[in-house]
Amino acid sequence: MTMVDVALPQLSVTRSAVFEGDCLDLIPQLPDASVDVVVTSPPYWGQRQSLGNGTEDDPRGYLAFLQEVFAVLLPKLKRQGIVWLNLGDAYNTPVNWGAPDYKYSTLGVDRNGFKPDNAAYTKPRYRRKAFIDKDAGWLQYGSLLMLPQRLLIALTESGYIYRGEVVWAKKNAMPEGRCRRPHRKHEPIYLLARHEQHHFRTAPPVPSVWEFANEHITGLQHRSRFPTELPKRCIEAYGRNGREVVVLDPFSGSGTTGLAALQLGCTYIGFEIDAEQVVESRNRLATFGAQGNLLTNGLGADAMPRPEIAQSDRSDF
Ligand SMILES: C[S@@+](CC[C@H](N)C(=O)[O-])C[C@H]1O[C@@H](n2cnc3c(N)ncnc32)[C@H](O)[C@@H]1O
Repeated sequence: MTMVDVALPQLSVTRSAVFEGDCLDLIPQLPDASVDVVVTSPPYWGQRQSLGNGTEDDPRGYLAFLQEVFAVLLPKLKRQGIVWLNLGDAYNTPVNWGAPDYKYSTLGVDRNGFKPDNAAYTKPRYRRKAFIDKDAGWLQYGSLLMLPQRLLIALTESGYIYRGEVVWAKKNAMPEGRCRRPHRKHEPIYLLARHEQHHFRTAPPVPSVWEFANEHITGLQHRSRFPTELPKRCIEAYGRNGREVVVLDPFSGSGTTGLAALQLGCTYIGFEIDAEQVVESRNRLATFGAQGNLLTNGLGADAMPRPEIAQSDRSDF
């Protein structure tokens, strides 16, 4: 049999859209040098029951997948483009979080926790086991795996420039139960670029600690949604906005990056493997498009065009 190279079709980046599928298949279909800003939060290792990645038994398989995603992503970035990666770490322990842990919570109005049946305590969690490999020192029981750092080192060895870290200090962090280690009340957001001469806002400078709360979620619950403030700050840090600024989230989820991108007048491309989230996020973004209330952000928001809303094709909004 003769092998024939079939060229992948190219996805247009001229109109905002959420596409359903595995980002590893979809990213290669983007035109080269077409993306300005990536803001993304891939599934964390062993945290949630969800489609796609994040439930690999061996964390090395999880890292290999993310490395592949970022390898196909690099040529799709414009020379001036940037990547914001929100990625949490994991301890090499089983996920030990259960409903009884509500009693350690400091959430809720009286700061004594929500009711025991609140989704915060009962949401479906992946029943992760520790992954021990006696020949790999970092895979001892109980160790914080340094997954983001391992990924960052691999990415800098394959063409990315690592440009810094922002700490998102959570005003209303989830409680972690009883544990002999610091309770995590922050999340890291890493900044990578294709070229040292990437765009970035210099005035006012972008600080390295951002403090804001998680959002109350209405509609279909996405268990690991980040607040709109996070992608909004990431996109604003690029120092430019408007339609020609293409924002991509290859793990689009409920479309929060898209919402921020549209609010700032940018073009949004989202990839998401979960069909239910695709439908829900398209509706979420279409609702925004219909309202069309752009944020005033000091970057010429008045001049920004409203996002175009396609009536005929539900994958555009
Ligand atoms: C942490 S969530 C992102 C949440 C998003 N930031 C939001 O605010 O809604 C990760 C998402 O990646 C999706 N996902 C997992 N593996 C994927 C893959 N291979 N390709 C595309 N999406 C994937 C999951 O379905 C999930 O919705």
